[in-house]
Amino acid sequence: MSDIITLAIESSCDETAASVLKNGREVLSNIISTQIDIHKKFGGVVPEVASRKHIENIDIVVQQALDEANITMNDITHIAVTYGPGLVGALLVGLSYAKAMAYALDIPLVGVNHIEGHLSANYIAHKDLKPPFITLIVSGGHTHLVEVKDYGEYEILGRTRDDASGEAFDKVARAMGLGYPGGPIIDKLAKEGNKDAIEFPRAYMDEGYDFSFSGIKSAVLNYLNAKKMKKEEIVEADVAASFQDAVTDVLANKAIKAAKEKGYSIITLSGGVASNSGLREKIEMLGKENGIEVKYPPLILCTDNAAMIGCAGYYNYIKGRVDDMNLNAVPNLQI
Ligand code: KG4
Ligand code: ZN
Repeated sequence: MSDIITLAIESSCDETAASVLKNGREVLSNIISTQIDIHKKFGGVVPEVASRKHIENIDIVVQQALDEANITMNDITHIAVTYGPGLVGALLVGLSYAKAMAYALDIPLVGVNHIEGHLSANYIAHKDLKPPFITLIVSGGHTHLVEVKDYGEYEILGRTRDDASGEAFDKVARAMGLGYPGGPIIDKLAKEGNKDAIEFPRAYMDEGYDFSFSGIKSAVLNYLNAKKMKKEEIVEADVAASFQDAVTDVLANKAIKAAKEKGYSIITLSGGVASNSGLREKIEMLGKENGIEVKYPPLILCTDNAAMIGCAGYYNYIKGRVDDMNLNAVPNLQI
């Protein structure tokens, strides 16, 4: 059988990305053009600006992905593209580009759910990883605890009822004037702080699998305001460490609880927050205590990229799940 070559395109938020994969799990190129420096000034992603930047970048990024993979357009078997969830204008840029290319080359178009993309990053990073397993998807837009029964077959165990975990990191960092995106900054600062300095609440939601992060975010903001009112010194590193500890406690404990209760011995992490050093440390420690193996992708595959979209798209493709030119962007697409 000849190799299946996937060209993948991702433009759901503020990264314009393209990747070429061979047989779903071998990455031949992974190009990411990030707009972080542009959105930083505004403290978050400005949707209209993101769409315009995607339009400027997409052709260059795709061309670079093909060049680096050392292939031509005629070598591509199918195109995988994110069609949701995400910012509608941003999604439409990648989707329209992918549709035009699939039409012109007369090859299949495969729509990919961005969240499914995130969890698929682990298939690239761990060549022997096969379903079933429990996965924790934690990013700026999503927080999901999912049972992966097979490739493309999922059962959602829990999700956030309000803010995503990454959103909480971003909002707390913003309130502290630390910059955007907040996750990596808080992660770094937390290393110098005392995690037991401040007791922030942990929302266990009556021990179900759902999450809530708006309470802890408000608790941090209230703490900062109270300190300012009283003109007391704020030890930023302690706030960062205590906040991170509270968020990662809940994430790690719920993931371990799900694996134990559902009888799984593997947990995978994905999404931007999966690069958090506190979360990795905590869940690995709890995993060891409970005989559960914890796997996560390298940093470059945790945050948004097209390689993960290509991997998810490959499994859709081999299962015959292809789309036609009617595929539209779905900003609130669920997994
Ligand atoms: O997966 P991603 O690139 O985009 C979405 O699909 O949302 O995730 C970005 C999010 C941001 O909220 C960012 O602050 C967070 O991931 N993040 C982190 C870390 N690195 C990125 N959060 C905590 N610790 C980190 N080291
Ligand atoms: Zn993402």
